[in-house]
Amino acid sequence: MESKIINVLFNNKLNNLSYQIFVGKNLLTNCEHIINKFVKNRKIILIHDSFFTLKKSDNENFNALVREINKLAVSVNLISVSGGEKTKTISQLNRIIEKSISFKVDRDSLIIAFGGGVIGDIAGFAASILLRGINYIQIPTTLLSQVDSSVGGKTGINSSKSKNLIGAFHQPLAVIIDISLLKSLPNRQFLAGLAEVVKYGLITDINFFEFIENNYKKILNYEPSILNYIISRSCEIKSQIIKNDEKENGKRALLNLGHTFGHAIESFGKYDGRIIHGEAISIGICLAFKLSNKLGICSQIETERVITLFKKLTLPTSLKDIKSISATTGEMLDKFKYDKKNKNNELTFILNKKIGKSFIKTNMDVNIITKFLDEEI
Ligand code: GLY
Repeated sequence: MESKIINVLFNNKLNNLSYQIFVGKNLLTNCEHIINKFVKNRKIILIHDSFFTLKKSDNENFNALVREINKLAVSVNLISVSGGEKTKTISQLNRIIEKSISFKVDRDSLIIAFGGGVIGDIAGFAASILLRGINYIQIPTTLLSQVDSSVGGKTGINSSKSKNLIGAFHQPLAVIIDISLLKSLPNRQFLAGLAEVVKYGLITDINFFEFIENNYKKILNYEPSILNYIISRSCEIKSQIIKNDEKENGKRALLNLGHTFGHAIESFGKYDGRIIHGEAISIGICLAFKLSNKLGICSQIETERVITLFKKLTLPTSLKDIKSISATTGEMLDKFKYDKKNKNNELTFILNKKIGKSFIKTNMDVNIITKFLDEEI
């Protein structure tokens, strides 16, 4: 199976940014040709999920990467971080920063983030502020981080009020996506990642949505060539959207389809495992389509088609599917206040005219949302 390289080229005349996303199978067990130019003669700080340790023989990808870096770099220092959402705090960030400083980090040093979205977010944020900004590489190990958070340079931690309110846009030097890592990913995490994959079809590419519909059984069976395609296509679509809008002043917000509802729902689960990000996004996208339908913007048939696909992927499609979590309309509206898309206290939602055609709806009428939530949650 061919590995693929996706070029992320920003149309940002000020800093002319670009980098490459490498996607393929067994990339890490033979990674010298990919990492050489990034790690050679540099100090490396490898921030990794505590799930991966050098002692475990079943972490062959992690072990191979460390072996290769050791051959090329001046030094490699490891910082182990727990992968849960509760890790994205100021105190954990401080721990990473102080450890990096104790390793004598310099402006030429490179951070490598090896783990899921939590690790990538906090390690990328540390890279953005250490010595006023050093380079980093993302090696995402979950499907969700491979298709979303590792690409596009959003880094950050959570505030007590809501997710990702503290952070920076800081683009990586490269993203290395090894689909072999998905073998050790719990099935629930894999399924949750599929919600973000479907999202790309819904935003902008009906053909991709149909591909997922037609191949969902092969996807659920982890067929490598199909996984390679859906991950590469997701990264391609994301890079097309962000290239004109690195800092989300416009169309990048489309990537938040389902996230206004989703982030609120996720927070009601207190990040304790009752619901995980992609599951909340699956419900959030279904709510976004139902709202689009209620407003007369999107047809019932298309809305049901979306919900049917999420069901086939065994993802939740309504808050009622998660028995251990409940929320009132008031609690939900309260969470919406902290959504980063809002302007001047006006709510913004990403809605759909049809499958493959999302748009940004600003100044949403609170009375309509209230009535909708009263009926739906
Ligand atoms: N996850 C949404 C974005 O990167 O903009």
